Amino acid sequence: MKFLHQCPAPAKLNLFLHVTGRRDDGYHLLQTAFQLIDHCDLLDFDVRQDGQVLRTNDVPGVPADSDLIVRAARLLQQKTGTTLGADLTLHKTLPMGGGVGGGSSDAATTLMALNHLWQTGLSRAELMLLGLQLGADVPFFIFGENAFAEGVGEELQAISTPERWFVVIEPGVHVPTPAIFSSRELTRDSKPVRIADFSSNAENYWRNDLQTVACAMFPQVDEAIQWLSQFGNAKMTGSGACVFCAFADESAADKVITQMPGRWKSWKAKSLNQHPLVDLLQR
Ligand code: C5P
Repeated sequence: MKFLHQCPAPAKLNLFLHVTGRRDDGYHLLQTAFQLIDHCDLLDFDVRQDGQVLRTNDVPGVPADSDLIVRAARLLQQKTGTTLGADLTLHKTLPMGGGVGGGSSDAATTLMALNHLWQTGLSRAELMLLGLQLGADVPFFIFGENAFAEGVGEELQAISTPERWFVVIEPGVHVPTPAIFSSRELTRDSKPVRIADFSSNAENYWRNDLQTVACAMFPQVDEAIQWLSQFGNAKMTGSGACVFCAFADESAADKVITQMPGRWKSWKAKSLNQHPLVDLLQR
């Protein structure tokens, strides 16, 4: 029996997110910088000979059959024609509706791990295309390096970012991504910036265009941003709800955590340079 246990599916933060337009199919054109962090879900994979794909454990709020990891595995079966299946176990830590890419990262890790275990031999580029069918953020996690992204998030260029610690607050609400993107209040015409302008110390300039809309719909997000802003440039990630602030020193991040009001769940995470499974794939 072939298996991989405790495979990490790391979270991401959007260091900035600008909405620059909308495609005819309703999806939005973005510019964003994706930063991998070391706060992860964990997944176990056991190969089955009978071709079935099953999630073996209950995950509150994620029915097994609609789970993105099950859909990812079945998509890989369809694409490659493999007769193998798998038992999937998802140890969920990352918040849902949090903007940290948990579901997308779980799906990406599933595609990478099963492509390896099933020996289906898809290249990274092929897996990224497959991942795009599951969600706009999935290709980034398969790309596996911090990236400047355009298109709907699938046109990726690697960037280097400094080692940093992030304090992340979960404001206690689940933000529905489609509702944020479809809001009448959303600004969709941010002037495109050039990757050459991306610089690690331009934090005060980069903003998240989805933040105003999310804060208006969910005052809890606004409240968390206001509180965290006393320590630096606090911003929302993705379409929310999580809010973060970056620190050069781990001790500075620890200090913020110790002062955190009890009403919020919060955590500290360190920047990652690459997805831990990146070496399973040929470039
Ligand atoms: O691709 P994903 O499932 O993450 O997207 C969820 C929803 O967010 C989409 O159905 C769409 O309404 C919106 N979205 C968008 N433009 C993007 C990404 C997501 O409009 N670039």
